[in-house]
Amino acid sequence: NPKKYILAIESSCDDTSAAVLCGTKVLSNVVATQEIHKQYGGVVPELASRAHQQNIVPVVHQALAKANIDKKQLSAIAFTRGPGLMGSLLVGTSFAKSLALGLDIPLIEVNHMEAHILAHFIEDENQTAPTFPFLGMTISGGHTQIVKVTDYFSMEVLGETLDDAVGEAFDKSAKLMGLPYPGGPLIDKYAKLGNPEAFPFPKPKVDWLNFSFSGLKTSILYFLQRETRKNPEFVSEHMTDICASVQHTILEILMEKLQLAVNQTGIKQIAIGGGVAANSGIRARLKDAEEKLGWQTFIPKFEYCTDNAAMIGIVGYLKFEKGKFTDQSIAAKARYAI
Ligand code: KG4
Ligand code: ZN
Repeated sequence: NPKKYILAIESSCDDTSAAVLCGTKVLSNVVATQEIHKQYGGVVPELASRAHQQNIVPVVHQALAKANIDKKQLSAIAFTRGPGLMGSLLVGTSFAKSLALGLDIPLIEVNHMEAHILAHFIEDENQTAPTFPFLGMTISGGHTQIVKVTDYFSMEVLGETLDDAVGEAFDKSAKLMGLPYPGGPLIDKYAKLGNPEAFPFPKPKVDWLNFSFSGLKTSILYFLQRETRKNPEFVSEHMTDICASVQHTILEILMEKLQLAVNQTGIKQIAIGGGVAANSGIRARLKDAEEKLGWQTFIPKFEYCTDNAAMIGIVGYLKFEKGKFTDQSIAAKARYAI
C-alpha cells in the first residue's frame, strides 16, 4: 500500500503557503508572509494577489523539497476555495487546478474556516485532539466564529462577528495608541505589565453568540481623544494600563460568549484556533476555566493557528479518505459559509 502524499495550497489572505502531508502527518509547511502590507497598516488586496503570484511557485518548490517528495509522488492537491479575498483565492485555485491537471491527480477543495477547526487533527506528539462533539472558536485578524463540531464534516456556526474580527479589534486599538501593525502581539506584551481594571470600556450588547467589536474601537477612540486633550502624554504615560484594559475587555467578551455556548450546548471541549490564540491572556483564561469550570481546552501549535497550508492538507487528507474530490470546473468563492 503506497503512501499517500497530499500537497496543500493556501492563499486566501496575505500568506502564501504550501504543505505536504503524509496521512495526518505534516512533512512540510512553508509560509511566505507578505511584509508589503505592514507599511499600509492592513492587507491591501491588490498587492496581496500580486505577491501570491510571485510566491506561489517557490513556496510549492520549497514545500516539496523540505518533504523530500517529488511532485510525481503526489496523490492529490488540496487548495483553499474560500472564504477570503477573491484575487488571492484565484491565484491558489488556478495554480492547484493546473497542477492537478498536469499531474493527472485528484483535486480537493477546502473551506478555510473548516480547515482552521480541523487543524486540531494534525498529528502532534505533544497534543491530543478533541473528541466529537466539541466547540471550535476561530479568532484571528479575519475571523471570529464559534462553531459546534459534531463530526469532521458536520459543523454548525453558532455565532460570528457582525463587524470587525477580534484580531482587528486588537490591531485597530493598537493603531489608535500609535503602535505599529499588527498591534495585537504588542497589546498582549504591554498588557502583562498593566492593570486590566484601570480603564473600563463598555461591552457591546449583541444577541446570541454573535460578536461586535466596532463599538469598542469607537469608545477607545473617544476615550483617548478626551484624555489626550487633558494630557498630551496620556497614551505614553499609561500605555500598559490602556493595553491591559483593552485586552481585558476583549477577553471578557470572548469568554462570556464561550460560556454561553457551553451552557447552550452542554459541550465543554473547546478548541481554539487563529492568530489571536497566541494571546497569553486568552490562554490564561482558558486554563482558569479548565480548573474552575471543568472545561477541556485545545490550542494547536502556533504555526497551525495562523493561516497555513498544513490545515488545508489535513482537510485534504480527510476528504481524500472519503473520496470527496472536486472537478476542474470548480471556482473560488470569496464568501463561503461552513
Ligand atoms: O491568523 P492570523 O495570523 O492572520 C489572519 O488574521 O489572517 O491572525 C493575525 C491576527 C492579527 O490581528 C494579530 O494582531 C493577532 O492575530 N495576534 C494577536 C496576538 N498574536 C497575533 N492578538 C493578540 N495577542 C497576540 N499575542
Ligand atoms: Zn484564517
